Amino acid sequence: MHKRDLIDLADLRPSELADIVRFAGEISENPSYYKGAAQHKILATLFYEPSTRTSMSFQAAMLRLGGSLIGFDDPSNSSVAKGESLKDTVRVFSNYADVLAIRSPWEGAAMAASLYTRCPVINAGDGGHLHPTQTLTDLTTLNYTLGRLENLTIGLCGDNKNGRTVHSLVKTMSRLKGNRFVIISTPELTLPQYLHDEILANGCTMEFSDSLEEAIGKLDMLYMTRIQKERFPSVEEYEKNKGVFILDRQKMRLAKEDMCVLHPLPRVDEIAVEVDDDPRAAYFAQTEYGMYARMALIQRITERVDRSVPSTLESTHAKRCKNPRCITTQEHYLPRLFDEKGGKLLCRYCEHKL
Ligand code: ASP
Ligand code: CP
Repeated sequence: MHKRDLIDLADLRPSELADIVRFAGEISENPSYYKGAAQHKILATLFYEPSTRTSMSFQAAMLRLGGSLIGFDDPSNSSVAKGESLKDTVRVFSNYADVLAIRSPWEGAAMAASLYTRCPVINAGDGGHLHPTQTLTDLTTLNYTLGRLENLTIGLCGDNKNGRTVHSLVKTMSRLKGNRFVIISTPELTLPQYLHDEILANGCTMEFSDSLEEAIGKLDMLYMTRIQKERFPSVEEYEKNKGVFILDRQKMRLAKEDMCVLHPLPRVDEIAVEVDDDPRAAYFAQTEYGMYARMALIQRITERVDRSVPSTLESTHAKRCKNPRCITTQEHYLPRLFDEKGGKLLCRYCEHKL
């Protein structure tokens, strides 16, 4: 059977997604039961960007499954520093490992890597685009804290423009029945248009707010995010947008008794430390569910054994993607791949419209 990558949760059938979330919950009940499940398997973690949780929870997940690890958390310690291309690095790693998790500042990097590997690739965050394993973490946490993933009013507060965790969450939760979205951000940091389109196309509702105080009372889940400093063109631009929305004890008084607060972390100043003791603050529990979600994913994704190198893809069009953050602007050998959607061409790596 061919390898299956996890680049975007939209690649999974709804039943596969539900299975991973259910399995993660099962693992969380009795993690030691799975201690030999990935024995003799190797996970490679290739982190071209900093990480605490994703990197460490992938590593902890593999170790708890009895598997082993290779990889780097700083590409300057690898031959990337000598000018090695992404294609060559991942091709070599896939000769050594059974599954590869990659994080990159470039949008579409994981998808690009998947074109050249003999083993499955997991997207551990590609620039400001997507972060699917964070969404698996979020869904597993929600399932436990609220007991459901449907018919929820979801507040997204902070950097909805650059927050890749928000993008993956919106894509996934707008496919589940009856969810409503409240977008709480400055106009500069609102959701990208393609995600507005996705919410509406999936039959969900969406409203906008510039006041966390006003919006918080109607929410079942509040998803806070950090303003993504590293995605801003200048420090001045970042300074203009930071510190606008801060969740504190006073605002929590306006929220429902059973509202749940999630945050992918790291936190900067958008949640006051005083909120940490509120029983509705689930963001530290969320980091633990992330490990169980990754234990579930690793087991499912390494079930297939075919280790052939994928055949080379031909460009679909002669044009280039115009998104300056797209991986194709860095790795020029990549085939130019576009899909047609609504009369427009969509870059298959980063989803930008041409
Ligand atoms: N850790 C998450 C990410 O890598 C969120 C963040 O960095 O703010 O996308
Ligand atoms: N949630 C998350 O991705 O955290 P890190 O950036 O620390 O991995």
